[in-house]
Amino acid sequence: KKAVVLISGGGTNLQAFIDASQRRELDFELAMVVSNRSQAGGLTRAEDAGIDTRCLPSKGISDRAAYDRSLATELDRLAPDLIILAGFMRILSAPFVSRYAGRILNIHPSLLPLYPGLHTHARALAAGDREHGCTVHFVTEELDGGPPILQGRVAIEPGDDPETLAARVLQVEHQIYPRAANLFASGRIVYRDGQCLLDNKVL
Ligand code: GRF
Repeated sequence: KKAVVLISGGGTNLQAFIDASQRRELDFELAMVVSNRSQAGGLTRAEDAGIDTRCLPSKGISDRAAYDRSLATELDRLAPDLIILAGFMRILSAPFVSRYAGRILNIHPSLLPLYPGLHTHARALAAGDREHGCTVHFVTEELDGGPPILQGRVAIEPGDDPETLAARVLQVEHQIYPRAANLFASGRIVYRDGQCLLDNKVL
């Protein structure tokens, strides 16, 4: 099975996949990494690991549908079984999502359905939450709204600020994202009718 990883930034989640792959822990191949930013540090991580990279700059392109069509053209060359969003800071259009329905995973730094969107760590702190975390979920048309696959929890400690909390959550992201992708690649997790099934049971 083949996966494409979409990134926009530093790519520490991508690195977690690369490390897992090098330890032979992934049930799929990291076939390509695509970034919408040429400066994304994750591109260097991919190159260092010998993974094919593409950059499709999105800056200045206001036609989302057109951008997503060119992205789809790149991806279709490979016919990936799985599309992994790893800090890809763009909302994907409905035609793109339906083209790859049930094959796109995202990781979001909150315990969804809490805090979809941006600034999740600051929002969890402002709300006085005692725990926080991250969620791997299927991507649907609704932003951060698709069915969850796995969640990871961390305690919020006295004195935490958004940076310390983000760092603690990120560690957990790196653990659960490869696990969730393996569950998908091995066929144990399936997306059906807006729901996530694990071993044929609705999660
Ligand atoms: C992570 O916090 C992830 O949850 C969010 O974007 C960030 C990506 O970080 N979707 P990195 O580029 O993987 O380091």
